[in-house]
Amino acid sequence: MLSYASLKATDPEIYAAVTDERRRQERGLELIASENFVSKAVLEAVGTVLTNKYAEGYPGRRYYGGCEFVDVAERLARDRAKALFGAEHANVQPHSGTSANMAVYFGFLQPGDKLMGMDLSCGGHLTHGHHLSYSGRDFEVISYGVDRETEVIDYAEVERLACEARPKIIVCGASAYSRTIDFERFRQIADAAGALLMADIAHIAGLVAAGIHPSPVPHCDIVTTTTHKTLRGPRSGLVLCKKAHAKVVNRAVFPGIQGGPLMHIIAAKAVALKEASTEEFRDYQRRIVVNAKRLAERLRERGFRIVSGGTDNHVFLLDVASADLTGKVAEKALEDAGITVNKNTIPYDPQPPMVASGIRIGTPALTTRDMGEPEMDEIGDLIAEALAAPEDEAVLAGVRQKVEKLCERFPLYQDLP
Ligand SMILES: Cc1ncc(COP(=O)(O)O)c(C=O)c1O
Repeated sequence: MLSYASLKATDPEIYAAVTDERRRQERGLELIASENFVSKAVLEAVGTVLTNKYAEGYPGRRYYGGCEFVDVAERLARDRAKALFGAEHANVQPHSGTSANMAVYFGFLQPGDKLMGMDLSCGGHLTHGHHLSYSGRDFEVISYGVDRETEVIDYAEVERLACEARPKIIVCGASAYSRTIDFERFRQIADAAGALLMADIAHIAGLVAAGIHPSPVPHCDIVTTTTHKTLRGPRSGLVLCKKAHAKVVNRAVFPGIQGGPLMHIIAAKAVALKEASTEEFRDYQRRIVVNAKRLAERLRERGFRIVSGGTDNHVFLLDVASADLTGKVAEKALEDAGITVNKNTIPYDPQPPMVASGIRIGTPALTTRDMGEPEMDEIGDLIAEALAAPEDEAVLAGVRQKVEKLCERFPLYQDLP
């Protein structure tokens, strides 16, 4: 395992930031739905000499010499991604989810074309057409949301909007949506509207890989994802598509929007994809969902409203306005208590995003630490205790002590400094 001895000697300030962060991760409860703890094998791959290599191009067709070994890594990553998701083609070079989405838009759209995606305030992502993102600047955006009553996607309404606007691409997938996404229904909508269908499964990729959430691959022209959320790999992105789109996707990633690929990260992606093909990983994904359902239920029992009434996946939104709080206040109180979440708007939120009426809660990271349903009940009670007195320092300090005790029972990265 990495000792960081050289880092400590060369740059004590960065060494301190790293060890402080490691301690923070170990002593706190990580409930940010988009975060996880990678395996030691992934961590080691990220820290390899592959970071030294320039490898513009693709395996066998590079613009640099000396690529024979990084080619091995990239081919493994590509083949494992295809096998895991049952895809015809994979591009493993996008540096992030944002880059993966940018590559698809760059490849298939012209400036001014119509792009349809889920509204950020209803659970979509910035890169699905938000005006502050490149995706909302260069294209004409049509947004869909969720039904006001059920807080679930209204497919008939999506179809109506799509057929009226006739976008070139429809994006399905979300950052804060706790219900199963019906990719087959989205295919029907895309066909009716004459659009390409892209699924962004950044959040649910691990569930899809494990067969717990229906796969978009048979129904979508293109699928993008991050690799660092439920998939539990390094921070990065991935594009999967039909063979017919492979050339466009590859050219869009490089030289379209990126230069040299991050070969150490691609190697780490290969490792994570191998791990994701095991029965152990499938069991892990099952436990993520069981834990999310249990934690949501516990918080409901403690008087909170859960957006859409519950969860089918790894994440849910807690409506903290139902306890006369804002997301901002709740996030801060929980942070002071050693519980990390993020404030999040709820559908049709009267508050702006920096205040918000909800917090987003996810269980991938805690499940990686082997926490199960009894701990979810305990954590639900700790959250309720902190949110009952969000400005009482003594209460929050008391909760933090209990959090640290709980975390001690589930050690993390024990042999790291
Ligand atoms: C649905 C979705 N797409 C794309 C992204 C962007 O990923 P990244 O932060 O790696 O750019 C995210 C990140 O939260 C996401 O939730």
